[in-house]
Amino acid sequence: MIIFWEEKEIKDCRTLMLAVVVLRLLQSGVSVDAWGADGHHATCLLAEPLLAPATLKAVRSLLPEYAKGSLASLCTWPDDIKWQHQWRWTSPLHYIDTPDFLCRYNYLRDCHNEYGDKDMCVSGAINNFTSQLTSFQLPLDLAAPYLMTKHDHPNHYNLTEATLFLAHFVGDIHQPLHVGFTSDAGGNTISVHWYKRKYNLHHIWDSELINTAKQRFYNSSLSVMVDAILLKIGGKWVGETKSWGACANHGISCPDVYAAESISLACKYAYRNATPGSRLADEYFLSRLPIVERRLAQGGVRLAFILNRLFAQTSDSLINQK
Ligand code: ADE
Ligand code: ZN
Ligand code: ZN
Repeated sequence: MIIFWEEKEIKDCRTLMLAVVVLRLLQSGVSVDAWGADGHHATCLLAEPLLAPATLKAVRSLLPEYAKGSLASLCTWPDDIKWQHQWRWTSPLHYIDTPDFLCRYNYLRDCHNEYGDKDMCVSGAINNFTSQLTSFQLPLDLAAPYLMTKHDHPNHYNLTEATLFLAHFVGDIHQPLHVGFTSDAGGNTISVHWYKRKYNLHHIWDSELINTAKQRFYNSSLSVMVDAILLKIGGKWVGETKSWGACANHGISCPDVYAAESISLACKYAYRNATPGSRLADEYFLSRLPIVERRLAQGGVRLAFILNRLFAQTSDSLINQK
C-alpha cells in the first residue's frame, strides 16, 4: 500500500494550541512517549556502523548541518515535534492499537487513526516514508563533483523529514507495546510499581527497562550498552541478522512483519504478570531485558538494511543484503 502524505500548511496561534494540548495531556494523566530517547538513540547508533559508504553519504547529504553527520542526534525529532499544531496529524503514526487480547495484528483492520483514516499508524508511516525516499537522488555536486552545474534535484517531498521519520518509526515499531491493546493504549493506562516507583507499563518499556539496564550493567552509559549489543549482533545473533533485514518480494521495508512480532512479544512478555497495581522488580526486569536488547538490535539492523536498500548500490554494501 503506497500513500503519499504531505506536510499541512499552518498559519495560526501555535502557543494557544500548545497550551491546550499540554492541558489535555495533564488532565488525561496518560503518558504518551515513544521508545524513550535512549531507545531511539540506541536504534540509530546500532544502525550507523552497518551503513554502506554510499548510504552514509546520502544520509549525510540529507541531514541538517547542525546534526554534524549524526543520524542518531536527530532520531527523536518526530517525538519533539508531534505536540506542535502543524505536526499533530503525526501523533498516531508512532503506534498501532490492536484488538484487546487478540495478540495479532492485521494491517487493514488495525492501521488507522482515531477517525478511521486508513494507513495512519506506524506501519503505514514506514511504508509511506520508505516510498517517498525511493525518489532520492544525490545532488549533482556530491554525486559527480566535476559536474557542478545544478545543485538540487527538485523533489516534491522533504526527504530530510522522511529520513528522520523513517529512522524514528523503525525504532518505535520494535517497542512491543507500540503495537499493543486498544483499551489500555499500549499499556499507557496500566499503572504498576517499578521497584520503588510508580509508572505506567508503557513507560517501563519505553524507558525504565533500558534505564535500569544501563545503570546496573553498563556503567550508566548508553554507548557502553550499544557497544555490548553490537558485539552480540556480530556474535551470538550473527546467523540471524540477514533474515532480520530481509523482506519478502524484494520489499525495501516490511513493517507488517515487525508489527506482528511486536504484538506477539507484548502478549508474551510485556503484558504478562503486569496487571494494574502489580509490583515489577528483578524477576520481571531480568526476564524481559533480553527481549528489549534483541528488539533494539533488530530495529538497528533493519534500519540499516532499509537505508542501504534505499541509498546504496549492492556492490558497495558492507553486508550483502539482497
Ligand atoms: N497511544 C495509544 N496507543 C498507543 C500505543 N500502543 N503506543 C503509544 N501510544 C499510544
Ligand atoms: Zn515515537
Ligand atoms: Zn512509547
